[in-house]
Amino acid sequence: MEYNNIIVETRGRVGLITLNRPKALNALNDQLIDEVGHALGGFENDENIGAIVITGSEKAFAAGADIGAMASYSHMDAYKGDYITRNWERLKTCRKPIIAAVAGFALGGGCELAMMCDMIFAADTAKFGQPEIKLGVLPGAGGTQRLPRAIGKAKAMDMCLTARMIDATEAERAGLVARVVPAERLVDEAIEAATVIAGFSLPVVMMIKESVNRAFESSLNEGLLFERRTFHSAFGLDDQKEGMAAFVEKRKPVFKHR
Ligand code: HXC
Repeated sequence: MEYNNIIVETRGRVGLITLNRPKALNALNDQLIDEVGHALGGFENDENIGAIVITGSEKAFAAGADIGAMASYSHMDAYKGDYITRNWERLKTCRKPIIAAVAGFALGGGCELAMMCDMIFAADTAKFGQPEIKLGVLPGAGGTQRLPRAIGKAKAMDMCLTARMIDATEAERAGLVARVVPAERLVDEAIEAATVIAGFSLPVVMMIKESVNRAFESSLNEGLLFERRTFHSAFGLDDQKEGMAAFVEKRKPVFKHR
């Protein structure tokens, strides 16, 4: 596939996707999300890749769905074509961890895209918001669902109903982002964290991602049972033998299944 809206690179064992529609502040359209999905598929099938970083530009991670493209849609266009949202589920099915490295605006679909990643690193310049209400619509790719799970009902209502943007400090305090870093360090810090992850046993990394995500899809008891069964299954891995033997022998583990 030819990429016209993203740049796809590798940094060691990390796959790096840079959203690249600078003139429109990385506004998201079906083609861009298709390209992200395709790039994720490539990284998922590449055994040399252990984790993925998605980033934007200094000014914007993404300023939302492309308003120009959406403006004239009828209900039938939106519903029948499932435009704007038809291909977002692909992000959810990626089994390798994804870090969103956000500088500048992450608004509307941009904030939702960041929230679909496994964690968000924010530059101190980052601004998160769900301003759809100003356009006469509501968030359409998880804003009303993932935000309350991430930051609670009070702040989610505040952001979705007033369109107020929150900065990186408030986003970290509220639990939306994992780390705030100086803007010039953002991508390096995300790649460093992704490199750490990519050095661990990939099956274990995937088990952890699956288990944490289970916390949002099940009761506590079901989630704990899922975790326990998965934990037991980890004893079937060579990498568990290697990890524990290395600790006992006071050496660094060399994981086979990376
Ligand atoms: C299309 C966009 C855009 C968008 C910015 N641009 N956001 N184009 N869709 N979402 C374009 C502008 O039209 C402009 O193009 C160029 O990018 C630079 O933007 P400016 O507005 O000139 O920059 P600035 O004054 O710095 O303001 C930045 C901004 C503002 C605060 C981010 O652009 C803004 O409010 N954008 C819209 C944000 C928004 O409402 N997002 C939610 C979209 S709805 P020109 O050609 O004039 O230079 C949504 C629903 C998701 O996301 C549904 C599920 C997927």
